[in-house]
Formats: sequence, structure tokens, C-alpha cells
Amino acid sequence: MSDNEMTLTRFEVHGARGPFNAAFFGLMGPFIERHLRPHKRRVLADLPPTVVELGAGVGANVPYLRPGSTLVAIEPNVPMHRRLRAAAERRGVHLDLRERVAERTGLAGQSVDTVISSLVLCTVRDPGEVLAEVRRILRPGGTFRFVEHVAARAGTPTRTLQRALRRPWAWTFEGCSCERDLAGLLRAAGFARVDIEPFRLHTPFVPFNTQIAGIAYA
Ligand SMILES: C[S@@+](CC[C@H](N)C(=O)[O-])C[C@H]1O[C@@H](n2cnc3c(N)ncnc32)[C@H](O)[C@@H]1O
Repeated sequence: MSDNEMTLTRFEVHGARGPFNAAFFGLMGPFIERHLRPHKRRVLADLPPTVVELGAGVGANVPYLRPGSTLVAIEPNVPMHRRLRAAAERRGVHLDLRERVAERTGLAGQSVDTVISSLVLCTVRDPGEVLAEVRRILRPGGTFRFVEHVAARAGTPTRTLQRALRRPWAWTFEGCSCERDLAGLLRAAGFARVDIEPFRLHTPFVPFNTQIAGIAYA
């Protein structure tokens, strides 16, 4: 692997915040899930027998896969792996776990029918690069299904809070930004069609409450 490729594929797990985030999402997962479930049920319906998930975390989306199906999980954050393995085992899902970043999945071009992600494009180093990788690996007609949190409309109180909290938020949640225009990036990424539904959560994590869910077609 060249130095350049090493830099592109490397993910640095922080000694304290890596395990903290694994525990946080393990504990808070059911609360977050309760709020996101109606949207996930829509975009993650009828998943095929093999699914690639970017940033699978501790397995929040495993329940949307049918028992017996295969999850190719691109998850570079090793402290998440134990809980992810346990979630897959509980659901009877075959887990093909890859310690890689979403910018460089290592999967062959046009080899995948469905890619999914939730709450990941906020954290990856370069979401545009990740979307280009998704397009590269999807077969024509394949789908990218996503639920992500995004920047609130400019000038709103939520947007002001997202700006004010950006540093401690990113520090705590390993690079997470609440200020990304992911709908704009998705529409500009060259998919054949992109369906996006914006929605708002009502949780105490206000910067995280502005969300989108949708499906992009390769
Ligand atoms: C906020 S968590 C969401 C986890 C899970 N998808 C969920 O909905 O609960 C963000 C996840 O993205 C992963 N992640 C961060 N940077 C990544 C990258 N470059 N490629 C793939 N996954 C990444 C983190 O390790 C973490 O598991």
C-alpha cells in the first residue's frame, strides 16, 4: 500500500473517545432508534439478501435485515466491533466485518445492489468522496439508502446552536459535524435519481434534530 493510500484508508481510534462512543451508542441506541424508526422502516424496507453498510457502529440497523442475510459492514472503529458482532449474532445475520473507511471500501466496482448508512456522512472525513465510492461500487439500478442528520436552515436558532457547539460536539463524537448540507451533496453526486425527505426530531440533542432520509438510485 502506498503512503497516500495508507493515509486515505487509516482511521485513528481515540483511546478514550472510541470506547466512549461505542458505549454511548450501545446505551443511547434504543432511544435514538425509537425516533428514527418510522423513517428507517420506509427507506430500509425490503433489503436484499446482501447489504453493504457504511459505519455500521454497534449494529443499529441490523434489525432491518432479514435473518440469514449477509451484512458487509465497513466499520473502522474497532471498539464498536464487539457489540456489532453480538447484534448480528442475535439477529441471525452473517457478518462480514471490514475494518476499513467508507472512502475506500475495497469492494469491486459495480458489485453491490444496496448500500445503507445512518448517522455516518456527518462523521466521515469527506462525504463527497464517500458518495463517489458508493456510486463506484453500486450496480446500475442499485440503491443507496440513508438516514442522516444535516445542517438546519440558515438563520434558524437550531443552525446557530449547531455553529456554537461545533467544536465540543466534534471532539466528543469523533469528528461529527452538524453543519453539513448532505442533501445538496447527495443531489450533486451524480446518481440517476435521489429521493430525499427532510424531517425533524424532538430530542434533547437539538443540533442533531434536523434530519434527512431517502434513497439514491445508481
Ligand atoms: C454516529 S455513529 C453511527 C453508527 C450507526 N450507523 C448508527 O446509526 O448508530 C458514526 C459511525 O461512523 C463510523 N465512521 C466514522 N468515520 C468513518 C469512515 N471514514 N468510514 C466508515 N465509518 C466511519 C464510526 O466509527 C461510527 O461507527
